[in-house]
Amino acid sequence: MSNTTIFIPLFIVASLTFIYSCYQRLQLVAVGSAEERLDNPLSRLAGTFAYAFGQKRVLARPYGVNHFFLFWAFMFLLVANVEFLLEGLFPGVSLSALPAPLYHVLELTFDLVSLVALACVVVALVRRLFFAPAYLENDYTKARSGEALLILAMIATLMLAFFFLNGAQLAQGGDTIWQPVSAFFGSLLAGLSPSALESVAGAAWWVHAVVLLVFLNLLPRSKHMHILTAIPNCYFRSLEKPNVQPRETFKKGERYGVSQVEQFTWKDLFDSMTCTECGRCQDLCPAHNTGKPLNPRRIVHDIKQNLFGNASA
Ligand code: HEM
Ligand code: SF4
Repeated sequence: MSNTTIFIPLFIVASLTFIYSCYQRLQLVAVGSAEERLDNPLSRLAGTFAYAFGQKRVLARPYGVNHFFLFWAFMFLLVANVEFLLEGLFPGVSLSALPAPLYHVLELTFDLVSLVALACVVVALVRRLFFAPAYLENDYTKARSGEALLILAMIATLMLAFFFLNGAQLAQGGDTIWQPVSAFFGSLLAGLSPSALESVAGAAWWVHAVVLLVFLNLLPRSKHMHILTAIPNCYFRSLEKPNVQPRETFKKGERYGVSQVEQFTWKDLFDSMTCTECGRCQDLCPAHNTGKPLNPRRIVHDIKQNLFGNASA
C-alpha cells in the first residue's frame, strides 16, 4: 500500500530536518554556564518515575488527569508509530509476526488507546475554546493560539487516520474483535467496493504518514518541544527543596539577575525550552498576584522567543 519510492525520500528529508532542528536547539542550551545535574542517579530516576511517568505535578490540577491519559496513550502509541514507519520503509515488517495472542493484545491496546487519545484531544480543545482558565488567556500567548490548536488538530487527525486505515482494511474482511473502534469506522464504510476501500486505506495511510512527519518537525519549533524534553528535564531537576531566595546584598561590582544569555545555566535554558506555557507559575506567583507587572510566564515566553524563536503557544 505504501509507496516506498515516495515515502523513503520523504522520511529521510523529514528525519534530517528534525535532527537539524533539535541540534540547533541543543546548541543554544550549550551556551549556558555549567551546572551539576548528574549526581544522585537513584534519586533522579525515582523522581523521573514520579514526575514524568506518574505525572505527579501535572495531576495536582484536575485538568492534569486529561494530560495523564494523553501522556500514557502517547507512550503506547509510540510502539504503533514505530511499526508504522518501519512498515513504510520496509514493507512486510509488522508486529503481526509476533505470536498471535501477543499480537491480538497489542492490536486491542492500540485501538482502545487511540480512542482515549482522541477523547483527550477533544477535551483539550473544548477547554481551550470554551473553558480556558484565566491564566491561560493572555495578550501574548492566547489559549486559542493557532499553534496550540494546530497541534491538537494534528493529534486528532493521526487518530482518525489510524481508525480509517484499519477500518477500511477490516471492511475488506478480517477479525474485528481485536479492533472494535476501527471496526466501527469500518462499518461507516460498509457498501464501498473493494477498490474504493483500498483507496480509503491508501489515503488514510498517507494522511497518517505525512501528518506524523510534519508533527515530528513541529515539535522542536513549538512549545511541544516538551514532548521530547520533559522526561529528561524531570531527571535533571533540582534535588534541593525549593527555598526562599537568599537576600541580595547590593555592592558595587556585583551582578544582579541576568542580562546576558551566558549568565543562565544550561539547565535554565533547557527549562525554558521545556516550558509548555501552561501558566501555572504565573497563577502562583505572589508578585503577579498583587497586580505588579512581573509575570513569570511572560518572562519564560520572552526568553524562548528570543532564544529559540518559538511561535506563541
Ligand atoms: C514528563 C512529561 C510531561 C510533562 C511533565 C508534561 C507537562 C505538560 C503540561 C504542564 C502541560 C500544560 C497543561 C495545561 O495547560 O494545564 C502540557 C500540555 C500538553 N502536553 Fe505535556 N507533558 C509531558 C509529556 C508529554 C508527552 C509525552 C506528550 C505527548 C503527546 C504531551 C502532550 C501534551 C499536549 C498535547 C499538551 C497540550 C494540551 C492542551 O492543549 O490542553 N506531553 N504538558
Ligand atoms: S515555567 Fe510556568 S508556564 Fe512554563 S511549564 Fe513551568 S509552570 Fe508552566
